[in-house]
Formats: sequence, structure tokens, C-alpha cells
Amino acid sequence: MRGSKIAGLGHYLPENIVSNDQLAQLMDTSDEWITKRTGIRERRWVVGDVGATDLAVPAAQQALAEAGLQASDLDMILFATLSPDINFPGSSCLLQARLGVPGIATLDIRNQCTGFVYGLSIADQFIRSGAMKNVLVVGAEVHSSGLDISTRGRDVAVLFGDGAGAAVLTATEGDSRLLDSALHADGTDYEILMLEAPASRLQPRLTAEMMEQGRHFPQMVGQAVFKHAVKRLPEVIDEVLSRNGLSVADVALMVPHQANLRINEMVARQIGIDPARVYNNIQRYGNTTAASIPIALHEAVLEGRVKQGDTVLLAAFGAGLTWGANLIRW
Ligand code: UT7
Repeated sequence: MRGSKIAGLGHYLPENIVSNDQLAQLMDTSDEWITKRTGIRERRWVVGDVGATDLAVPAAQQALAEAGLQASDLDMILFATLSPDINFPGSSCLLQARLGVPGIATLDIRNQCTGFVYGLSIADQFIRSGAMKNVLVVGAEVHSSGLDISTRGRDVAVLFGDGAGAAVLTATEGDSRLLDSALHADGTDYEILMLEAPASRLQPRLTAEMMEQGRHFPQMVGQAVFKHAVKRLPEVIDEVLSRNGLSVADVALMVPHQANLRINEMVARQIGIDPARVYNNIQRYGNTTAASIPIALHEAVLEGRVKQGDTVLLAAFGAGLTWGANLIRW
């Protein structure tokens, strides 16, 4: 039966490392607070005018090279980001132009931290149906240019990092494939994690007063988001495993979204997975939202943590609220 498999992965991180101590020079925070509450020790922040697509290009090229494909082999580009280079058109169009493949389908995915999980599922559907053969799925973010790096924004600013990850999905008839995905959203509480302005629902969309109030920066009710995450992640993991006749014991490696090390440790305890089978790299990169899973998955593969035949589980949670999981037979 036709399905899709990950034929190549790539990732790219800006060189500029920003430590917790450096942030403590900009705002009232400390290495101790950030490490204890989140696990984050450092993150990468771009320098100068660099957009999500600038980070996506090398990640995409690496994924194509790993897959042994050219950009001209692609049928579609899916670009998951909450930090598009410009308001419109979408970053998938910018990336398509940079890869030099005019004419192929492009789509931006606005599902925040769950964007890459949605992207793999969308790509899989197009490939499974026979409509397409090769689809590039990218998650890329530049957060640093949009954070409030004063004490007012410290609860959010210390969490986020810049980066990009990419996967090339290709058609297969073999056993190595994306087995299943579970996708969810609940917009009821969208305001607990959002970036409001510039906003089409406001006239004008952005004013100097709104900027003084910080309404052009992300706002988060951290504890509420945390509670949703530790409820929804175990739920969706159980959903995707049980409907495929699998249990946590069958999972060789889980790659969760990297929002907070404490969330991932709590989820691991709840579902009863050995922490050695959970891949975390938030310590080095912070939360790169849509990019976090492809970056972590690629690092795990490069470190030899995944071998052919393994069952790999990806799970994400984020603004929207959105959450989801992919189950992969490697
Ligand atoms: O990927 C998107 C999804 N996002 C998430 O999953 C984030 C989920 N939430 C979290 O990870 C956590 O809620 C945070 C890491 C954001 C915050 O941790 P917390 O343990 O929930 O802290 P808190 O919000 O309850 O704040 C505790 C204290 C407060 O001070 P008071 O009121 O106790 O005096 C905050 O003002 O910590 C203070 N605080 C800080 N202190 C030093 C908040 N941010 C900072 C900071 N440095 N950066």
C-alpha cells in the first residue's frame, strides 16, 4: 500500500549563542531561574536582518541532499512557522523562490508548535492519495526579533530560540513509513498564548500606544499553557499508539516538542516511558516552536538513536491551542 517515508532530514541553527547569563544582563532573570523552571541553558538568536526563510534554506538543502533528491523533484513545500518573514505572502512562497522551483504547490501552516506535526500529516495525505511523490516539510522560526527583552517580557523572552528543521517525505510501498498521525486543536482558550498585533480586527492594526503596551509581543499565561500541555500530550500519545495496536513499550524513541524540559519529564513519567528513550535538546536551543521537532529528530538520527524498523513517536503541543502526534516506522 502506498505511503510516505522520511527520506531525508536537515536542520540549521544560527551561530550566535545567547546564554542565560547574557539574558540576565538585559532583564531581571537568572541562570538559576531559567534552568530550574525550563531546563534551558542557552539558545541561538540571529544577528541582523535574518528571516525564517533564511534559516529554512540550508535546512531544506540538507534534507534534499540526505534524500538524494534535487529541489526540482519536489511537488510541494509546506512551511510551518509562527514567525513568517513578512505578513504576506507566506514563507513557503519565499522558500520556493529561494530553492528555484517556481510552479510547485506551497502552503504555510499556522499551527505554531504543532505546525511540523501537522505538516508531516498533510504531506502524508497528499503522497498516500497518489497526488504527489515528494514533499518538503519545513519548520523554521525567528523569534528573537519579536521578543520583549525587558523585565516586562521575561516570562516569554527567556524561552524562545531561532532555528530551522526540514524533512523530505517521499512515496513508498515499503514498511518504513509514517504510520499514522493524530491532529487536534481547541481555539476556546486562544488568548492564553498569542501575539495579537498588528491585528486585522483592529483599526488601525498597530498604534504607538499598542506598542507601548507591548501588544506586538507574544503574551502567555504560562501556568495555564503548562497544564494543558501535560494533559493533552499523554492523551494524544495514547490515541495514536492504541489505534495502531501499539503501546509505549513499543516506542524506541519519542521526540517531543521542546517547550519546557519539565513538561517533557512530566509527560514521560505519566506515560511510563524510560527517559533514556526521550530525546531532548531544549537545553541548547530553547523553544524553537515549529522547528523544534525536526531539529531534535535530525540530531537524534545523526547520533544513531534511531535504527531501521524502530517505532518513533513525535508529539507536540502549542498555541491555538493545538496538539498532535505522528507515529513513524523507521
Ligand atoms: O511552545 C509553546 C508552549 N509553551 C509552553 O509550553 C510554556 C508552558 N509554561 C511554562 O513552561 C512555565 O509556565 C514557565 C516556564 C513559562 C514559567 O514557569 P512557572 O513555574 O509556571 O512560573 P510562574 O509563571 O508561576 O512564575 C513564577 C515566578 C513569578 O514571580 P512571583 O509572582 O512568584 O513573584 C514570575 O514573575 O517567576 C517569575 N518569573 C521570572 N523570574 C525570573 C517569570 N519569568 C521569570 C524569569 N526570570 N524569566
